[in-house]
Amino acid sequence: MKTIFSGIQPSGTITLGNYIGAMKQFVDLQEEYNCYFCIVDQHAITVPQDRLTLRQNTRSLAALYIASGIDPDKATLFIQSEVPAHAQAGWMLQCVAYIGELERMTQFKDKSAGKEAVSAGLLTYPPLMAADILLYNADLVPVGDDQKQHIELTRDLAERFNKKYNDIFTIPEARIAKVGARIMSLQDPLKKMSKSDVNQKGFISMLDTPKQIEKKIKSAVTDSEGIVKYDKENKPGISNLLSIYSILTNRPINEIEQSYEGKGYGDFKADVAQVVIEAVEPIQARYNQLMESSELDAILDHGAEKANRAASKMVKKMENAMGLGRKRK
Ligand code: AQP
Repeated sequence: MKTIFSGIQPSGTITLGNYIGAMKQFVDLQEEYNCYFCIVDQHAITVPQDRLTLRQNTRSLAALYIASGIDPDKATLFIQSEVPAHAQAGWMLQCVAYIGELERMTQFKDKSAGKEAVSAGLLTYPPLMAADILLYNADLVPVGDDQKQHIELTRDLAERFNKKYNDIFTIPEARIAKVGARIMSLQDPLKKMSKSDVNQKGFISMLDTPKQIEKKIKSAVTDSEGIVKYDKENKPGISNLLSIYSILTNRPINEIEQSYEGKGYGDFKADVAQVVIEAVEPIQARYNQLMESSELDAILDHGAEKANRAASKMVKKMENAMGLGRKRK
């Protein structure tokens, strides 16, 4: 059975973009693959975080994974910092990576742009992400389009390590959905929807109320043409809303376009809002139950145990390959 690894940062409440681009895919994949799903809290601290908020977001993200349909009997769900092998392997891979290739990562450039003080972790986070994936010998990494470059780097680091030290890593591949791989900001449809966007109107959080969702979609930036038609280049706002509608209802885009012929954006936006509300409501109901129960801790404890078992074996192999520590009989 092939293995899958993917992670989400608890850097805020996950957005509809994270759900569509990542989590929704995970739910189908757990049926066919040996899946490891991780809450990558060590990635979140590459930018400043409030201690209590980070803890709250970590727990909340775990609940959202389960509420969205991740079954802990089928997939391993765990918190990155509870599996020390990630930091250990991340360090070894930092020593395999070159500064130049890390500086070329677009996410580093975007997140550091205009900032006076940028943490070293923001630069060296891709080798930690590579460690996350390689520790489990993952064959596939389901991610949104924005992570493609990091997966390429992971492949390069694995190949370099295999060649230089010992052939121990599986070379993973990115699995990027054909539709919905990049859900855009509602306020700037040329920018991806992000949970840490300072403009709250730009994203729909998976915990937004129906009223908030209606308001945000109503004020989504579109164009003045008044025709509901998919045209990413000239109508990025409407195209983004059409993608969201299509993915959440499983209806083809051209069928949706036809049903809005002769109607304005007002009707279309109201229906998109309804579709989103219907998708998030059952998730929120299950989420609320989970947040009040002790079930979540038991799931995360079990997940950390399973992940620790697999990851510590790989760390040993890496250390042996690099000559770290003592040889034991
Ligand atoms: N807008 C998006 N559309 C589709 N997929 C997306 N992903 C993120 N944004 C979109 C995918 O969600 C997964 C988890 O991402 P992450 O939390 O690890 O980091 P990120 O990609 O940096 O996501 P955000 O929301 O933009 O977080 P912040 O604001 O903290 O940087 C990944 O598979 C990602 O591709």
